[in-house]
Amino acid sequence: MLPQSMLRTCHLLVLMLCVSAIEDFDWTKNDHGSFYYGVFPTGFSWGAGGSAYQTEGAWNVDGKGMSIWDAFAHKKGKIFLNDTGDFSCEGYHKVKDDISLMKDMNLKHYRFSISWPRILPTGIKNENINEKGIKYYDDLINKLLENKITPIVTLYHWDLPQILEEKYRGWQNASMVNLFNDFANLCFERFGNRVRHWITFNNPWSIAVEGYETGEHAPGLKLRGVGAYKAAHHIIKAHAKVWHTYDTQWRNKQKGLVGISLSGDWGEPVDISNQRDIEAAERYVQFYMGWFATPLFNGDYPQVMKDYIGRKSAQQGLGASRLPVFTAQEKSYIRGTCDFLGIGHFTTRYITQKNYPSGRGNSYFTDRDLAELVDPRWPDPGSEWLYSVPWGFRSLLNFVKKQYGNPMIYVTENGVSEKMRCTDLCDDWRMQYFKDYINEMLKAIKDGVNIKAYTAWSLLDKFEWDEGYSERFGLYYVDFRDKNKPRYPKASVQYYKSIISSNGFPNQRELESWKGKAIETCSSSNQLLAADPLISHMGMVTEIVVPTMCTLSILLSAVFLMFLLRRRL
Ligand code: NOJ
Repeated sequence: MLPQSMLRTCHLLVLMLCVSAIEDFDWTKNDHGSFYYGVFPTGFSWGAGGSAYQTEGAWNVDGKGMSIWDAFAHKKGKIFLNDTGDFSCEGYHKVKDDISLMKDMNLKHYRFSISWPRILPTGIKNENINEKGIKYYDDLINKLLENKITPIVTLYHWDLPQILEEKYRGWQNASMVNLFNDFANLCFERFGNRVRHWITFNNPWSIAVEGYETGEHAPGLKLRGVGAYKAAHHIIKAHAKVWHTYDTQWRNKQKGLVGISLSGDWGEPVDISNQRDIEAAERYVQFYMGWFATPLFNGDYPQVMKDYIGRKSAQQGLGASRLPVFTAQEKSYIRGTCDFLGIGHFTTRYITQKNYPSGRGNSYFTDRDLAELVDPRWPDPGSEWLYSVPWGFRSLLNFVKKQYGNPMIYVTENGVSEKMRCTDLCDDWRMQYFKDYINEMLKAIKDGVNIKAYTAWSLLDKFEWDEGYSERFGLYYVDFRDKNKPRYPKASVQYYKSIISSNGFPNQRELESWKGKAIETCSSSNQLLAADPLISHMGMVTEIVVPTMCTLSILLSAVFLMFLLRRRL
């Protein structure tokens, strides 16, 4: 046994090494240069993704328990047009169809999530394992592998078992750490012989802020200034615990990797010659991605979060910071628990300094002392928050490289939406978005960022949380009016296929031909979709008109028979 003082010195040395691994990001350099022709490293993995609640449907089928999203969406007024994920894309019943879409695109990986209440209806491993739920994921994984598509599996894409919310207040409660670990352990046990890539949490920022601070997402709690920090604290601990479980119990046998998927918008200083704007932009990024990444890579929350939230809490007259504190032991347990970093990225903001006086109304947002701005010239074809700013992606990737010692990165989400009314499958704005964002990712690789995979978000149009079905992110259009939920390729399917088959952007001449080819294929999809109301009407004829006619004929024949019989008598 090492003496306590030596242990402490070692601990300090490790800390110093970690801190010295952080390089400074140069905020004064913004390179929004021209298009770069080139290809990705051999073996780069191209994929697409989705998540359980957003695509599976089958919300109460085969023994599945309720999730917080089932409960939330069933309450009136929570989701746009009161839509729910009850049926969504019916992905639960369409595994084969969806895999052939992936195969056709030549995808190397597919990212999906496991619904916790589908395999543990009460959320608790010792109570009830739903074998039918297990079988569904078994089949999905097996079919993907048969088709040489690598499964990248997320354990938590927001659908906590509802019963755990009712009993414990979900992520507000520390007991979630062990319960989640049990669930993850079951997944490693049942699927880990075939799954090599695990993502513990998807976008914990949203879970914490939208679930427990603004209440726009399930479970809809509005615990301003405290709820999000508490939820995040438990999520970080749960992530670390699951990583250690894998590390000690499964890694030797299964040889897989465990990471997390963090989402992060880029924050660009409004004025790069103004130090206060630079600091505000850095705060924006630290409060977003840094909130989760810094503990996992360096052992604790970003200093700037500790300073700002601590100071504001004191000014409010609170005895302790609203940002929870990790003990020294927890810090060393949490540090280094990321085999790869998943990044979900969609957009960028300009940031400037803005003071919010501390008071009772403090929230996560006012704690940051900044204002977010957008350039009105940035394209915004779909979701209100989603402006296309490709260069922000390269900056974020370079920031991650510098801050966290050049970790292995999997881009786990990137894409753009369109509004509900849009039924034009010739989505040239999406082709442009993919082309430019993927090109910035290529430039980042040239800068030395260690990126191994890219996941287009998403394979299908799907339930877009509080926006219901009004925002479509899919490469494939899904006709939600039709109960069979048919899928139609948008032009971007063909475009993405071209990027995949060239493994990048070989030369200008080739690129020019891609768009024309994509537009050609989408016109025929447009015609098919236009004919769809007719086809669904034909469906109605067989389901309603034919049985009604049959019943009527039987009735009429019976009356006629009775009439004949009476006449005979
Ligand atoms: C991030 C979420 O993880 C995903 O589920 C969602 O579809 C996208 N953001 C787009 O809003």
